[in-house]
Amino acid sequence: MKKNVLIVHAHPEPTSLTRQLVETTKQTLEAQGHGVMSSDLYGMHWKAVFDERDFPARVDPGRLSFIEESGHAYSTGQQTADVASEQEKLLAADALILQFPLWWFGMPAILKGWVDRVFAYGLAYGYKGEGNRYRYGDGGLKGKRALLSVMVGGPEKDYAPRGINGPLEELLFPITHGTLFFPGMEVLPTHAVYGSARMTAAGVEEAKAGWQARLEGLFADAPIPFRRQNGGDYPDGHGLAAHVARGQTGLRAHVGETAAGEILALNAPRDL
Ligand SMILES: Cc1cc2nc3c(=O)[nH]c(=O)nc-3n(C[C@H](O)[C@H](O)[C@H](O)COP(=O)(O)O)c2cc1C
Repeated sequence: MKKNVLIVHAHPEPTSLTRQLVETTKQTLEAQGHGVMSSDLYGMHWKAVFDERDFPARVDPGRLSFIEESGHAYSTGQQTADVASEQEKLLAADALILQFPLWWFGMPAILKGWVDRVFAYGLAYGYKGEGNRYRYGDGGLKGKRALLSVMVGGPEKDYAPRGINGPLEELLFPITHGTLFFPGMEVLPTHAVYGSARMTAAGVEEAKAGWQARLEGLFADAPIPFRRQNGGDYPDGHGLAAHVARGQTGLRAHVGETAAGEILALNAPRDL
């Protein structure tokens, strides 16, 4: 069935691995008959910082409260045109793909700025004006899928379960869990291309083929089994019930087991 996919990508250099894989995304999804929308953040000169210019019609001109102004601008149709247009694309999408190089264990600032500005109060948080009632599995973006496609300069060994950097899926938890699952999206295990800083032509072809194969499962693969706030594991909407993930603390406690019994480091190499 035809679906709509929004690709948001962040790299100014057309020959970069990121941009080459963006082309693969477009070609693969179009060949599958899907509708493809894209946001080339550098090409659009996307405004990365979230500041007073985002609120031309303030509730309180005396003090800038981002949450209050975001909710007001969103609900009264007074957001800036660039933000409203990105929200329209996001709402029309069945899946969101973020493609970016790993910079300091996270996304480039321009992409973080897309999230900061586009994920408005009333849409991605404070859904229906009900505070935290809808979050982690419920919210304005429920029903959509999300997938990160990340170019990682370092070698896979550095991101192994005991690798010096820590497992990539744990490092990206603030994005997969705190940003994408939070407003209700189902998030697939991250797709990483390691050793991206020094790639041979053959390596690039291999990376394209691997990504193309991965895209085949965009609407079929099982998402990361993050625990849902309103699924029973968090009786008071804040902490895990005592019988859930007994003895576990930290990030891992918020991921249930897959049928195969795997947890968080779903795409981490096994024997490095
Ligand atoms: C500002 C900056 C920060 C980076 N941080 C990391 C990092 O945290 N971990 C890592 O493995 N590589 C890091 N790298 C290397 C990039 O991930 C690598 O250059 C990129 O993935 C290559 O892909 P590209 O051709 O699409 O730019 C960093 C590079 C830059 C420029």
